[in-house]
Amino acid sequence: MKIYHDEDADLSILKNKTIAVLGYGIQGSAQALCLKDSGLNVVVGARQGGASWKRAKADGHKVMELWDAAKAADIICLLTPDMTQKDIYYKFVHQHLKDGATLYFSHGLNITFNQIKPPKNVDVIMVAPKAPGLKLRETYQQGFGVPALLAIHQDFTGKARKTGLALAKAMNFTKAGVFECTFDQETVSYLFGEQVVLCGGSAELIKAAFETLVEDGFPPELAYFECLHELKLILDLIYAGGIEYMWSRVSETARYGGRTRGKRVINKEVKARMKEVLEEIKNGTFAHEWISEYNAGLPKFEIMKRMESQHQVEKVGAEIRKLFDNPEQKKKKEKTEE
Ligand SMILES: NC(=O)c1ccc[n+]([C@@H]2O[C@H](COP(=O)([O-])OP(=O)(O)OC[C@H]3O[C@@H](n4cnc5c(N)ncnc54)[C@H](OP(=O)(O)O)[C@@H]3O)[C@@H](O)[C@H]2O)c1
Repeated sequence: MKIYHDEDADLSILKNKTIAVLGYGIQGSAQALCLKDSGLNVVVGARQGGASWKRAKADGHKVMELWDAAKAADIICLLTPDMTQKDIYYKFVHQHLKDGATLYFSHGLNITFNQIKPPKNVDVIMVAPKAPGLKLRETYQQGFGVPALLAIHQDFTGKARKTGLALAKAMNFTKAGVFECTFDQETVSYLFGEQVVLCGGSAELIKAAFETLVEDGFPPELAYFECLHELKLILDLIYAGGIEYMWSRVSETARYGGRTRGKRVINKEVKARMKEVLEEIKNGTFAHEWISEYNAGLPKFEIMKRMESQHQVEKVGAEIRKLFDNPEQKKKKEKTEE
């Protein structure tokens, strides 16, 4: 992949531009604050009376209704939840897009699956930070940045890449590295990663292992420590130095047992099912299923959420975490959930 750094980006091209950040949630708030702190002209678009309106004002932003912000802007960042973007785009943005404006995303789903079809006379770009908002903001405040992906869907002005890189530089992403890919690559790999490993795969692996121990008569507290709590410590090692580094930092018994038994659990059949999931993402089955569920008011999703929140691993975990929840962790958790 082509990787861009600070020297590849020029912040001065954004000097006279107005950037509207629509949505002041996890990404919107972090990105708007970093862009403003880097001296750019940012306005926040929000719903009057909504929680974000007050929060953005308290953070010192110029806050406007969504359509006013879109009208005022040269660069429009759509940073509301993915399932709301189509509606917001066609209600408040589409008719206000100036010739040569930039439409900016941090995830490609609505472009890849044709939910949003921008006119030909605008640039359409994506800068997708590889971190949640809180981490993005913290890293910026420490003087460094998180890595990000850059993608160009439409380059009407011939300057789309330069605009994307300048925005990435303003948020310090070019300090870590900005990796260029396509919208489709980002969309598919992002959905695949969160479904198969990061969220779906890891949650189900934890629950299956927890249940296996508890059904065999082991105390749930012990199962919680072995199948969930310690995972964080192992992932920290993998994050810091890779899988082989992790192996070098665990006991010899863990090394032998893990290398021989892990492959029996995550085997060829599991990989075949991963390929099925990947195919469903690529051919649009997942996106259309999710859009229909969202439009129907999330009936299946809400039932799943209710049932799964009753799982024993949640109950025992909540009790155990109370024992060592430090105030800093609590503060972070509250901020993330806001
Ligand atoms: N979460 C992440 O760390 C992350 C990482 C990479 C990329 N992304 C991408 O970044 C984008 C934003 O995701 P996010 O997780 O940051 O979203 P989010 O926090 O869930 O967005 C919440 C914001 O959207 C506003 N909003 C929600 N529904 C709305 C509606 N119907 N009309 C107007 N405003 C509405 C909320 O306003 P109110 O306060 O008024 O409700 C709030 O300001 C998505 O494309 C996502 O895929 C997210």
